[in-house]
Amino acid sequence: MSADSPKTFYLEVFGCQMNVHDSEKVVGTLLAQGYRQVPTVEEAGLILYNTCSIRDKAEQKVFHRLADYKKLQKQGKRFGVLGCVAQQEGEKIFERAPHVSLVCGSASYRNLPQMLVQLQAGKQRITGLDGRETDECFETEFTARTNPHRGYLTIIEGCDKFCAYCVVPFTRGKERSRTSDSVLAEARQMADLGYTEVQLLGQNVNSYRDPSGKKTFAELLAAVGELFGIRRVRFTTSHPRDFGRDIIQAIDSVSTLCDHVHLPVQSGSDRILDVMQRLYTREQYLERVAWMKAAKREISITSDMIVGFPGETEADFEQTLSLLDEVLFDSIFCFKYSPRPNTPSLQLEDAIPDEEKSRRLIVLQEKQREIQRRTYQRHMGHTLEVMVEGRNEARGQWIGRTSQNKTLNFTAPQAAVPEVGSYIPVVTTGCFPNSLLGEMVI
Ligand code: 5AD
Ligand code: SF4
Repeated sequence: MSADSPKTFYLEVFGCQMNVHDSEKVVGTLLAQGYRQVPTVEEAGLILYNTCSIRDKAEQKVFHRLADYKKLQKQGKRFGVLGCVAQQEGEKIFERAPHVSLVCGSASYRNLPQMLVQLQAGKQRITGLDGRETDECFETEFTARTNPHRGYLTIIEGCDKFCAYCVVPFTRGKERSRTSDSVLAEARQMADLGYTEVQLLGQNVNSYRDPSGKKTFAELLAAVGELFGIRRVRFTTSHPRDFGRDIIQAIDSVSTLCDHVHLPVQSGSDRILDVMQRLYTREQYLERVAWMKAAKREISITSDMIVGFPGETEADFEQTLSLLDEVLFDSIFCFKYSPRPNTPSLQLEDAIPDEEKSRRLIVLQEKQREIQRRTYQRHMGHTLEVMVEGRNEARGQWIGRTSQNKTLNFTAPQAAVPEVGSYIPVVTTGCFPNSLLGEMVI
């Protein structure tokens, strides 16, 4: 490590909320080891990338970054690759980017302190690559959460589903749930520290199985929601196959559980769902949607979709389009299919041209945009509680987030200065396809 920047690190994170939260744990671990976090690569002795490999584009980002900063190696800086690309590519990273000294997947973060000692001692190629077989969860002793009001909390790691397109079972290992006691202790600790919103995380959060057998996922949700000081509980990402009615019942009976469910469907075609090995049919998905629509509070439903999966015909794609009309999602994330290493669908020919994937992506996004343009009108004139997230000075607006996870930008009277992290009522006066506009209610 460079002599003028002893034990300083820069960390950039790519990918999902799990990765963002893992980064908070990594930062906490490094701080506990006497490192100091710095905001630029130039100031850092150790440069870390916490990577994502869900799609090829995400994976390429880390190699671009490593190439961009290779020259800094001459100044004695060290480089580390963490996360899903690290787990997937392993020691091959040393060949591709010889200036990297550390390659570590998420299941091995508990060994980071020892690895850092080796790094300090000048060791060149350090690896932490525990695979699917590991039973360990990365303990959260040193988590350095970045937001003081809203915090992530991992309840289950890994994935045993093996959807045909998905790299996650290979990068994050097998499913491991924490005990409900351990989750509740951490949630209580967060509440004591002043957190009012907890976001429970897992690749398949609702596949949670309490190793102590005390609580189901729905019971755990309710228990977190009932903790003193907690005003909002979110959970992501749910898998339709394990999505039971008891989750809706918990949302119905515990008002702090947010009225929002992210339930990735991926495709509206039964044929494609089957090849994707998603383990549910369109009808079963719609049954879960019907449960949500019958809930006491209106539940906002959002989803992920993949276009251009091998063999997806125009008729299959039409099925996905018609699902949008049937469900009326509040938002969707759409992706072009990207073949990933190790995954079952790698055996299928990726024959749909990129232009056709792009076309389907645009058609899907535009259709959804039109739906949101129409359906967000339902919020007009309603008073919604928002958590204040910040201020947009240029527009003279405050930024708020509703329980349904929608952005509600609002104005406040001059005398009122809403505090970031506080909850206030806002009446909706305008609707856009992706956000709402309103005025603070006094
Ligand atoms: N290609 C395209 N999209 C993918 N996703 C996961 N794997 C792939 C892939 N190989 C999408 C899914 C998932 C979201 C996080 O990323 O829609 O829900
Ligand atoms: Fe990316 Fe998936 Fe890893 Fe998250 S778990 S960082 S989405 S590959």
